[in-house]
Amino acid sequence: MFCNKVQAIILAAGKSTRFNTGRTKLLEKICGQEMILYTTRLLEQLSIPITVVVGYQKDAIQQVVNNHHHNAINFVIQEEQYGTGHALMCTESVWDREHILIMNGDVPLVTTEIIEALYEKHVQSHAEISFVTAHNADPASGGYGRVVKTDNSIRIVEARDFDGDTNEHCCINAGIYIVRKQFLQQCIQTLQLHESTREFYITDLIKAASDQHKEVKTYSAPFDRVRGINTLQELWAAEQVKRSELIKYWMEKGVHFSVAHNVHIDLNVTIGAGSYIGCGVHLLDGTSIGKNCRIHEYASIENSHIHDSCNILPHTIIKDSHIGAHSLIGPYAHIREYSHIGEQVTLGNFVEVKKSTIGKGSSARHMCYLGDAIIGSNVNIGAGTITCNYNGLSKHQTIIKDNAFIGANNTLIAPVTIERDSYTAAGSVITENVPAEAMAIARARQINKEGYAHQFHDPKAHEANPAPSMLNSFLGAFKQKNNSHDDTI
Ligand code: UD1
Ligand code: CA
Repeated sequence: MFCNKVQAIILAAGKSTRFNTGRTKLLEKICGQEMILYTTRLLEQLSIPITVVVGYQKDAIQQVVNNHHHNAINFVIQEEQYGTGHALMCTESVWDREHILIMNGDVPLVTTEIIEALYEKHVQSHAEISFVTAHNADPASGGYGRVVKTDNSIRIVEARDFDGDTNEHCCINAGIYIVRKQFLQQCIQTLQLHESTREFYITDLIKAASDQHKEVKTYSAPFDRVRGINTLQELWAAEQVKRSELIKYWMEKGVHFSVAHNVHIDLNVTIGAGSYIGCGVHLLDGTSIGKNCRIHEYASIENSHIHDSCNILPHTIIKDSHIGAHSLIGPYAHIREYSHIGEQVTLGNFVEVKKSTIGKGSSARHMCYLGDAIIGSNVNIGAGTITCNYNGLSKHQTIIKDNAFIGANNTLIAPVTIERDSYTAAGSVITENVPAEAMAIARARQINKEGYAHQFHDPKAHEANPAPSMLNSFLGAFKQKNNSHDDTI
């Protein structure tokens, strides 16, 4: 549509003072994506070449943009911030197409349709300059420039200079302009510095065109699509708009949300039909949820793939991992660091899995730590079992092969391999490999001291023969029975 006639300039050099965070707002995330990438991606979709004006925290912005666009975007530096008009002046040397589209970097919810409609109107009416407007009569809604029209003039009055009736002048400037290069070249240097703010305003281009009786056109868009973000409150409001849009989209695809307004979903998340998303769930950055899954209250899933028909119980945290179909995870499970969980696996409460693979049908139902482990299929891990993967210097692997049964409260000292179809007894400290089909018992043998309790139950006998300290008593009894100090089995 734009036929090599349009290039875009994104203004992103500002100091974001109204955010009061000390950081550039352009890197704040909205539904998981940095604000600046909303505009760069939009223009990329339209195949319009992009120049971004950067200044404040420019390295960080350039890095995020380059990571995403693989260095396909041009940058111009505005060393000192003298306003939007000055930011545009800094780009003069790169103007090489018939029309220059200029967008504020803090207007992230704009759609391709708005840009296309603005361009179409601009070209068809042979305007010198056209810009997007919206309706907002609320005097409390921040720093929007008001569009003030008379019979034969149009201009934008900045919020700080506007003392009129916002109802009467409910048309605001959205901060998206398209200007003929020739006109821009001719009048960019005529912009005047506003002494009160020490800034040049891009919006003065409208008055300049109007004063010269040039054609100026406006295109009106829905306010929600052109919300500008100057404060943290406006960031929050814009994110609400974006998130409701995402939730509505997934609802239409057959996803059931129990408390839709309380769910956090990022832009690049997908959810299969028939899935249920509970209250307070966070589905973050690159996560995909399969069909017919149930993701229960307050689960947080980031950069992970949950395959079909999984049941993720409340308060589970999953990061950078895969969960195979029909698995049951949680409540309070923690799966992380590229773990690969197979199909039909059960990982119950307080089970932590780190950098491990677990095969089909295996289960660890209660309070385990499985780190750097390769676990086969149909393995049972008893309650309280942990892999001791770290010796203080380096990490080691635990391998547990198919159909092994690990008793409760085992301590598996890595590196160690437990072969297929073997058993380990409850309470074992496994330091050596266990052969296939074997049973390993690695714990102190129990000793029952017959009649030991009498001395406590019969005080008279106790007075006649006072009990020595517990330690001596134990050693003495042991010695008598085995005639040895060796207390291992
Ligand atoms: C601007 C418009 C206002 C409009 C509003 C829409 C001006 C003077 N006013 O006001 O009419 O209603 O946007 O959202 O343009 N920037 C630079 N260099 C600078 C200053 C700003 O690159 O020296 C960048 C900022 O990073 C930001 C964009 O320009 O991305 C807009 O600047 P901002 O200060 O937010 O302008 P507004 O006060 O919102
Ligand atoms: Ca702004």
